[in-house]
Amino acid sequence: MPDQVKIRALDSFEEFMTLLDIQRTVWNHGESDLTPVHQFTISSRMGGILLGAFVGKRLAGFVYSFPALLDGVECQHSHLLAVLPEFQGTGLGKALKWAQRAEALKRGYGLITWTFDPLQTRNANLNLQSLAAVSRTYLGNFYGMTPSLCLGPGIPTDRLLIEWPIRDARVRKVAAGKVKRPCYDTAALPKALERKSGEEGSFAPPGRLRLNLEADTVLVEIPRDVKALAFRCDLIAQWQAGLRRAMSRYFGRAYAAVHFIYGDRSFYVLKKNGRR
Ligand SMILES: CC(C)(COP(=O)(O)OP(=O)(O)OC[C@H]1O[C@@H](n2cnc3c(N)ncnc32)[C@H](O)[C@@H]1OP(=O)(O)O)[C@@H](O)C(=O)NCCC(=O)NCCS
Repeated sequence: MPDQVKIRALDSFEEFMTLLDIQRTVWNHGESDLTPVHQFTISSRMGGILLGAFVGKRLAGFVYSFPALLDGVECQHSHLLAVLPEFQGTGLGKALKWAQRAEALKRGYGLITWTFDPLQTRNANLNLQSLAAVSRTYLGNFYGMTPSLCLGPGIPTDRLLIEWPIRDARVRKVAAGKVKRPCYDTAALPKALERKSGEEGSFAPPGRLRLNLEADTVLVEIPRDVKALAFRCDLIAQWQAGLRRAMSRYFGRAYAAVHFIYGDRSFYVLKKNGRR
């Protein structure tokens, strides 16, 4: 992490205005897709958590959540997490999430939720591996065909709903740096979805789905770098359709996504009766 990083609550109009610039830079959003200043103002007054990461005097990233309910359980729903490109990969994103957790714990919450595009391996790695969050809910085309949120023209905005049980023993251990990354024998474990047999490289299409596996641990592959497929929307659509069917099916059979393996080949790790 860069020297002189300070994470603190944001509470001024000027800081909220800076969040618009960060959103424009990080997501390339048009004006109508930005979360507006009045939303930050009212949320930070009415129970939301809005934290900024400052490198020196510069606001380099932020995380924003608001009070919500999941199946009747009070939680914070984290709607935005962004780090300016020049600071990405330096630990700020993770630091913001741990600071968000600390603040939520202080306010008595046991759960933080958020959604993300399940074809984004970096985010899957952050959420399921580095933060020890889990998912058991697949949301097909959740935000509709909002072009700025789609991976490409005509690609639905599928999302995984993440649950981060922030008092959970595993999360506490990860927070304390006491958990080693689990090792999985990816060659041996059964796969509900993987690249087509005989195909290799970034442009491999998905193979046949296996929706009735009975093993306790099942892998679901996704392409390592969906951005590399920007000009192959046909492949993005095929992988998304496979992922949607595989995840929905196994979540419906009491599996949960509890880990992510990021590597030359990347996999969700689904476990039967995976914890919330
Ligand atoms: C996602 C984002 C907030 C992460 O912040 P960051 O400061 O870049 O990430 P960090 O350096 O803190 O890394 C956190 C974790 O992300 C994952 N990660 C980061 N860079 C990665 C990369 N190049 N490849 C794979 N995983 C990566 C890792 O799990 C890493 O944890 P680790 O260090 O324990 O392996 C930031 O990259 C960003 O703003 N991206 C664009 C907006 C976005 O996707 N927001 C989140 C929507 S859910």
